[in-house]
Amino acid sequence: MAKKAQTVFVCQECGYESPKWMGQCICGAWNSFVEEKVTPAPASDVRRRTASGVLEGKAPKPVRIGEVHSSQASRIDTGIAELNRVLGGGLVQGSIALITGEPGIGKSTIIIQAASSIAQKEGTVLYVSGEESEEQIKMRADRVCQGDLSNLYLLAETNMENVLEAVNQLHPAFLIIDSIQTMYCSDLESAPGSVSQVRACGNLLMNVAKGQGIPVFVVAHVTKSGELAGPKIVEHMVDTVLQFTGERNQDLRILRSLKNRFGTTSEIGAFEMREEGLVEVDNLSGSFLEGFEDSAEGAVATAVYEGTRPLLLEIQALTGPSGIGFARRTGIGVEANRLNMIIAVLERKAGISLLSRDVYVNVVGGLKPEGTSTDLAVALAVWSAEKGISIPHTTLIIGEIGLTGDLRPVMHAEKLCKEASRMGFDRIILPRRNLGRVKDVPRELELVGVTTVKEAMEASQKGKNNG
Ligand SMILES: Nc1ncnc2c1ncn2[C@@H]1O[C@H](COP(=O)(O)OP(=O)(O)O)[C@@H](O)[C@H]1O
Ligand SMILES: [Mg+2]
Ligand SMILES: [Zn+2]
Repeated sequence: MAKKAQTVFVCQECGYESPKWMGQCICGAWNSFVEEKVTPAPASDVRRRTASGVLEGKAPKPVRIGEVHSSQASRIDTGIAELNRVLGGGLVQGSIALITGEPGIGKSTIIIQAASSIAQKEGTVLYVSGEESEEQIKMRADRVCQGDLSNLYLLAETNMENVLEAVNQLHPAFLIIDSIQTMYCSDLESAPGSVSQVRACGNLLMNVAKGQGIPVFVVAHVTKSGELAGPKIVEHMVDTVLQFTGERNQDLRILRSLKNRFGTTSEIGAFEMREEGLVEVDNLSGSFLEGFEDSAEGAVATAVYEGTRPLLLEIQALTGPSGIGFARRTGIGVEANRLNMIIAVLERKAGISLLSRDVYVNVVGGLKPEGTSTDLAVALAVWSAEKGISIPHTTLIIGEIGLTGDLRPVMHAEKLCKEASRMGFDRIILPRRNLGRVKDVPRELELVGVTTVKEAMEASQKGKNNG
């Protein structure tokens, strides 16, 4: 009996534990349960996580707030402005960050670039890789890093005990683990990448970060669907979750934070993948609108406010007869529910019948804009594709759509308009309620206020006739 109680079935997606095997987990995942040995949770986990300096076995010791060293004051410059921005102003001492992304997207590249910069300014950096040999990492470093790398230490290792030994020897200013799925603790029997291994390794790395004040970067792979391959529990443990995305056949890479205990999650960083590594992109709007000028039906330019800056982008739509059964609605970069809502509004409020039509919408450049300021552009792109009517390429469209088909004002409209003007747009169609708030824009920029999707469609064609 005692023997039986020693194993538990753990969902490899969410970490849910069940005494018996289940076909589907409460999180919705199918066939995600793996039998693992029961591992008693470390009793002092909470204490170790919250009170830095308190070691296992010692009594917790509250400190006066005045004696607490403020980590805000001690941020480390990673040498990469876009990375600093996404982190909320640099790397916080003793923080632990997860960097996720599909294989080949550039996680190891951005990390070695940050590591080399930190090694030159802050001292010893330890780069632990369970994925590549020291030679492979050195080859990449030779290609993408400049300057004196004598403080950068490499360790090809998958055993956590050995990693901790190296950390104790070197006392690095920055620790990198590439990747969490390859690491294991030898006192657990389950395979690297399993929930219990990832949890145990994650806890040990938390101790290093919080206990010794060392900032730690942990790489984690994601599957194609964007989920963390294997356990999601690491996301809850760490302070920051960074996501690196991009399209494989394009050079543009976007870094964003999905979680950040030390800053906003709305900042994005943009890079271009080149032979010499990841290069920061200055003119972000320009890079998303590349090739927009010669695009035609179904293409609409719009703008979002991402973090602290305006960003222009292109929405493309395609429609076609649907097969027998049901019409397909596919949004890439547009949330499915949002797209369905917009299509419903087009049908009910603008008289566009899409019942037996497939609808595809794509945000060019692999972006997933968070705001709702792109709603109207999505609607007009679908309409433009369906009707074969093009919208002039110097017209930009912003606006949030309500369920009644009326348009709601967008935030930061003035900044979006200014950026559009800077990028050469001369006409902006926007919710009428935004008009009063957009004042300080160049005089040659024509602002057209509209109240419904239908009005926006008409307005988009007026500029065409005049010009
Ligand atoms: N010699 C090279 N020149 C240009 N780009 C390269 C070169 N070698 C690798 N890359 C780029 O680096 C990418 C791999 O980056 P890497 O940081 O190893 O990804 P990850 O760690 O996320 O799997 C490749 O997909 C390719 O785009
Ligand atoms: Mg890698
Ligand atoms: Zn689950």
